[in-house]
Amino acid sequence: MKPKNCLIFGGSGQIGKHLIRKLTKNNIKVTVVTRNIHQKSLIIKTQGNAGYIDVVESNIYDEKKIRDLFSKTDICINLIGILFEKKRGNTFYNIHTLFPSLLSKLAKEYKLKNFIHISALGINDAIDSNYAKSKLEGEKNIFNNFPVSTILRPSIVYSVDDNFTTNFMTLLNRLPVFPLYYSGKTKFTPIHCSDLTDVIYEVIIKNINSKIIECVGPEVIDFKEIIQRLLNLINKKKLLLPMPLPIASLTAKIFQLLPNSILTEDQLRLLKYDNVLSGKYKSNSEMEYLVKNILTKR
Ligand SMILES: NC(=O)c1ccc[n+]([C@@H]2O[C@H](COP(=O)([O-])OP(=O)(O)OC[C@H]3O[C@@H](n4cnc5c(N)ncnc54)[C@H](OP(=O)(O)O)[C@@H]3O)[C@@H](O)[C@H]2O)c1
Repeated sequence: MKPKNCLIFGGSGQIGKHLIRKLTKNNIKVTVVTRNIHQKSLIIKTQGNAGYIDVVESNIYDEKKIRDLFSKTDICINLIGILFEKKRGNTFYNIHTLFPSLLSKLAKEYKLKNFIHISALGINDAIDSNYAKSKLEGEKNIFNNFPVSTILRPSIVYSVDDNFTTNFMTLLNRLPVFPLYYSGKTKFTPIHCSDLTDVIYEVIIKNINSKIIECVGPEVIDFKEIIQRLLNLINKKKLLLPMPLPIASLTAKIFQLLPNSILTEDQLRLLKYDNVLSGKYKSNSEMEYLVKNILTKR
């Protein structure tokens, strides 16, 4: 049976917007939690038909309000994540470890059908990245608290308005020379946002529980190739310059002082690791297998 209501945290973001559309057009009602209802309400409400979307304002520390929302939902989906830390409690630990831990505890307490958490690909390997470590610890807490949870680990997620390509296109437009970290050889497996939301929908509809699923697109592509394709798209030619690591670290140290950093030291460390299937978990191309496996266990 289809769930009646999905509670979504972080639904005003890139993946959230596509997900709201996917769920509501398939007759699933959503309640979207945002920190700023005045700023985000229009973005959220315009993703689906009237009557299918509720928007609630809350911060991630307001347990009383979150409990109230859990008492009215069948499924919770957590899309909250940050790429760099900011002041006032916006740390990797609070957002990627503590908050998912709270949500999974509540998922158990309120007997939810599923808790779906969006983590990130490659976090097992990136042992010196605080981003990756906080995501990994969050995953461990989730499975300890609510073992039937489903964790999706996407590679880079792209769509018409994603931060990754739009930021890079802006930089490519403005900079005379573009730096290639690690010689541009780091590999990625970008997945389109609507393909990722299809996976989330399948997880909900087919009741896929207790799994980590790695989510990737059809091709493996290195950083240099991504930049070259973006240059083609904006019809520009730029010199792509391999940047020695000490200079890259120095620029990251300076960039991370900006309020919306384009590169931090932690991101630089993360960029060292290929973002490809690990082979240790099922991937989104094996959804049929996952469904069959679940049906035979029932
Ligand atoms: N996009 C990718 O390429 C990619 C790749 C791998 C993994 N992921 C993971 O997938 C999830 C969703 O990604 P996304 O690209 O859709 O994210 P996003 O657009 O950057 O943000 C999602 C939402 O999270 C909320 N949020 C951000 N910072 C917050 C904070 N400090 N406290 C509370 N809420 C905060 C915001 O909602 P409000 O402003 O409405 O509160 C925001 O709209 C994240 O966990 C991310 O790490 C994304």
